[in-house]
Amino acid sequence: MQEFQDKTVLVTGGATGIGRAAALAFANAGAAVMIGDVDERAGETAEIIKSRGGSATYQPTDVTDRSQVDSLLAKCVNQYGRVHAAFNNAGILPPPTPFHEVTESNFDRTIAVDLKGVFNCMQAEISHFLENDGGVILNTASIAGVIADPQMAPYVAAKHAVVGLTKAAAIEYARQGIRINALAPGLVRTPMTEPWFQDEEFISSFLEASPIGRGAAPEEMCGMILHLCSDAASFTTGQTFIVDGAQTAH
Ligand SMILES: NC(=O)c1ccc[n+]([C@@H]2O[C@H](COP(=O)([O-])OP(=O)(O)OC[C@H]3O[C@@H](n4cnc5c(N)ncnc54)[C@H](O)[C@@H]3O)[C@@H](O)[C@H]2O)c1
Repeated sequence: MQEFQDKTVLVTGGATGIGRAAALAFANAGAAVMIGDVDERAGETAEIIKSRGGSATYQPTDVTDRSQVDSLLAKCVNQYGRVHAAFNNAGILPPPTPFHEVTESNFDRTIAVDLKGVFNCMQAEISHFLENDGGVILNTASIAGVIADPQMAPYVAAKHAVVGLTKAAAIEYARQGIRINALAPGLVRTPMTEPWFQDEEFISSFLEASPIGRGAAPEEMCGMILHLCSDAASFTTGQTFIVDGAQTAH
């Protein structure tokens, strides 16, 4: 499949986990991939793509800083001409904390990366798309953007807000050729959740309650990610798509 031939896709948080899997999948489908991340392992993601004959560039980018996001877009335009699709995926997961013990700095940091980071990227991308015949945005929310889990209030709040930003922007720009959706993964085994997988007691009780009985590999998110960013999803906008092995179905 070369669904993304001659297309450029921007991926944030492409150093590891879901972002790396998505960057590789987009490249495999023919896209040139621009990766923004604070983690230098995003350079390895770009190298893997190039070693397979694809085109990729890593630009160090902190999504909490609007000027760095603007530089990422500018680099992408300079290198590849324009952006066709953007996967705003960078995020952090703060350690589980009872609501009344959440510190101000923990709250502020989670909101800065998981919410404002997405806002910064969306604003820059939408401005670019308005000048370039439209485009597609996919934001990584979470099932924590749809339901609440205990001891994760800042993350739950940020991810619910990502779902809100997705809807708000989608209705504003639907007539201007800009589609905006969100992905809500369930439990995916990545560096972010590795401590959970190492916690025998937690993971066994979690998996017992999970209909599918396992966590996902990052690659299992890619079918939905590529579909939503492709022309096959041309009438799909303003929605959040849950990929969670039926965790939220009961
Ligand atoms: N793993 C899961 O179970 C799960 C479930 C639901 C949602 N998510 C979401 O999926 C996304 C990807 O997470 P993952 O599980 O692949 O974890 P991950 O830790 O492997 O990936 C997160 C990436 O974001 C990058 N990042 C963090 N802060 C950044 C910043 N300020 N600027 C730029 N990049 C930054 C990290 O360096 C990393 O590459 C996140 O938004 C996360 O909240 C993950």
